[in-house]
Amino acid sequence: MGKVVVMDHPLLQHKIGILRRKETSTKDFRELVNEIAELIYYEASRDLPLADKEIETPLCKTTVKEIAGKKLCIVPILRAGIGLCDGILRMNPSAKVGHIGMYRNEETLEPIEYFYKLPSDAADRDIFVVDPMLATGGSAIAAIKMLHNHGIQRIRFLCLIAAPEGVKKLQEAFPEVDIYIGAMDERLNEKGYILPGLGDAGDRIFGTK
Ligand code: PRP
Ligand code: URA
Repeated sequence: MGKVVVMDHPLLQHKIGILRRKETSTKDFRELVNEIAELIYYEASRDLPLADKEIETPLCKTTVKEIAGKKLCIVPILRAGIGLCDGILRMNPSAKVGHIGMYRNEETLEPIEYFYKLPSDAADRDIFVVDPMLATGGSAIAAIKMLHNHGIQRIRFLCLIAAPEGVKKLQEAFPEVDIYIGAMDERLNEKGYILPGLGDAGDRIFGTK
């Protein structure tokens, strides 16, 4: 069974508290999303394999550690997932970025797919699917299904806020996927929004409401 890691770091909880406030501006929201994503990614990348590398310091030869292969790929689920990318790329500037386009039908809450573009060698990479919100789980499950259909297997999922309903569904669908969560909330409301949540993540990141 994959891990479910809910972050408990005080800095991160503080930042998520500001993110939730309805008066937080688009500019601050966007900056905070990147900072929080960076902190969660720090934890989500903890078990990346290391390799020895011979180098020379100004004084002598020595062996240092480096990330083995450096074959990583960040996959934001459009559109809100884009909001996490800059923060994660600050930690891993050479990672490749794939994109999966998905939005929820507001009536049925079913995910509608509209875009897929990944690096051609994505199947050889460690993949981090990123999205601020894991609500019903429909979008995350559909995105991971798309990746599997393209032969991609080594997948972790990272989100800022999750509902217990979505975590359960994602775990049932893909028990092998590790899930990293900034905060686990109470539940979904009748419209599929996370409570207490932060509202519509895409609208708050891009200022579209
Ligand atoms: C939001 C969010 C997730 C999805 C989560 O995207 O960014 O992708 O909802 O809900 P689910 O777990 O019930 O599928 P949205 O559909 O609002 O699209 P957007 O990113 O284009 O705003
Ligand atoms: N998508 C969002 O942006 N917010 C929610 O609370 C649920 C889904």
